[in-house]
Amino acid sequence: MANVLIAPSVLSADFGNLERDVKMINSSKADWFHIDIMDGVFVPNISFGFPVMQAINKHASKPLDVHLMIVNPEKYIQTFKDSGAANISVHYEACTHLHRTIYQIKDVGCKAGIAINPHTPIHLLKDVIKDIDLVCMMSVNPGFGGQKFIEHTYQKVRDLKQLIQENNAEVLIEIDGGVNEVTGPKLIAAGADVLVAGNFVFSSKDPVATIEQLKNI
Ligand code: DX5
Ligand code: ZN
Repeated sequence: MANVLIAPSVLSADFGNLERDVKMINSSKADWFHIDIMDGVFVPNISFGFPVMQAINKHASKPLDVHLMIVNPEKYIQTFKDSGAANISVHYEACTHLHRTIYQIKDVGCKAGIAINPHTPIHLLKDVIKDIDLVCMMSVNPGFGGQKFIEHTYQKVRDLKQLIQENNAEVLIEIDGGVNEVTGPKLIAAGADVLVAGNFVFSSKDPVATIEQLKNI
C-alpha cells in the first residue's frame, strides 16, 4: 500500500453544516483539509475568505492545505498564516516574483507550494524545484469542483517525479481535480503523493468510507 496523503476539499462541503463536515473529516483517515480560495479574478468563481477559513480552523484537528486561486497572493500570506494555514500554494501563473513569494511563505513558517494550471509545463518549475515543499498540479481547470479529470495529467506527474529526482529535491506531488476511485490508483502509480478530492468524497453516501477507500489505494 502506498502511503498516500488524502486532502478532502472543503469546497464541496455543506456550508450550512460546516462544523459537522469538518468534524467528519477529523474523524476520518484524511491527512489534510484542502482549502480552496477563489477571488473571481484569477478564476471565474468566488469561494470564501478569511472568516470562513478561520471557522474551519477552529474545528479542524488536521493541517490546513491552502490553495490560493487569487491574483497578488503575496499581499495576504501573513493573514492566511494567521488564519490557520500549514501549507500555502500560490499559482505559478499568478506570481511575477515567484521566488520571492515562495520565501515569503517560508518566512511566516508555512510549507510552500506552487500550483500549476493544466497548460503549464513541468519544465517551468526547474529553477525553483529545490525551493519548494509541494506542487499542486491541477488536473482540471481551476475554479469549480466536480469537473472531468484531464488525462494528460498522468504524464505530467511522471515528468515532475523525474524533475524532483534529478534535482534530489524533496517535493510532494499533489493532484487536484477529478480524483476518484479510477483516477486515484493511476495517479499513485505515476508518482503522486497527495490526492485532493472534493466531489468524490462529499457526494458519496459515506464520506468517511470514501476517504478510507482513497487512503487504502
Ligand atoms: C478546483 C479546486 C479543487 C476542487 C477539486 O478549482 O482547486 O480543489 O475542489 O474538486 P473535485 O475533487 O470535485 O474535482
Ligand atoms: Zn484546490
